[in-house]
Amino acid sequence: MTRKMKIAVFASGSGSNFGALAEACEKGELNAEIVLMVTNKPEAFVVERARKANIPIAAVRPKDYETKEAYEEVILAALRESEAEWLILAGYMRLVGQTLLKAYPSKIINIHPSLLPSFPGKDAIGQAMGHGVKVTGVTVHLVDEGMDTGPILAQRAVDVIDGDVEKTAEAIHAVEHELYKDALNKLFC
Ligand code: GRF
Repeated sequence: MTRKMKIAVFASGSGSNFGALAEACEKGELNAEIVLMVTNKPEAFVVERARKANIPIAAVRPKDYETKEAYEEVILAALRESEAEWLILAGYMRLVGQTLLKAYPSKIINIHPSLLPSFPGKDAIGQAMGHGVKVTGVTVHLVDEGMDTGPILAQRAVDVIDGDVEKTAEAIHAVEHELYKDALNKLFC
């Protein structure tokens, strides 16, 4: 086995993907160590999860900075301090800017709850169901300056459960938790 990759996970919400990645690292199912959890929302539930898992937290509010560059410079300093090698976005609700893109070229990964390029952006599950698609899914991709536009690394399909957004979302999240781990293991070995 190759050495463990040092990863920083970025999240803004509940953090179920963060939790799944932390558990996979703990169990040795993901060849990585989470050295930092970065959030733009200090009040998000993911912060609680990181605390419980004893993972260092960088909570940085964008509105405390005049520019996106200044905001990302603060995050970058924390990333350097943690020696993170890969940035793993898991429900991070902001576009990554040039500061982080330049510092981590081809080392920033995202997961999105649709089969991209269909339904990028917010509420991908709602968008897909609104269109009446019968199959949707999950995509893991490299991050570029666009919104969910970078090169696709892995995809898995999920059947829509007719008219039931909640159950469909549950099925999608369950697939996310497996697919992210598998896709990252392929990248890290
Ligand atoms: C996931 O559906 C992920 O694909 C998207 O944001 C959601 C985050 O969910 N980018 P959680 O906070 O990990 O539960």
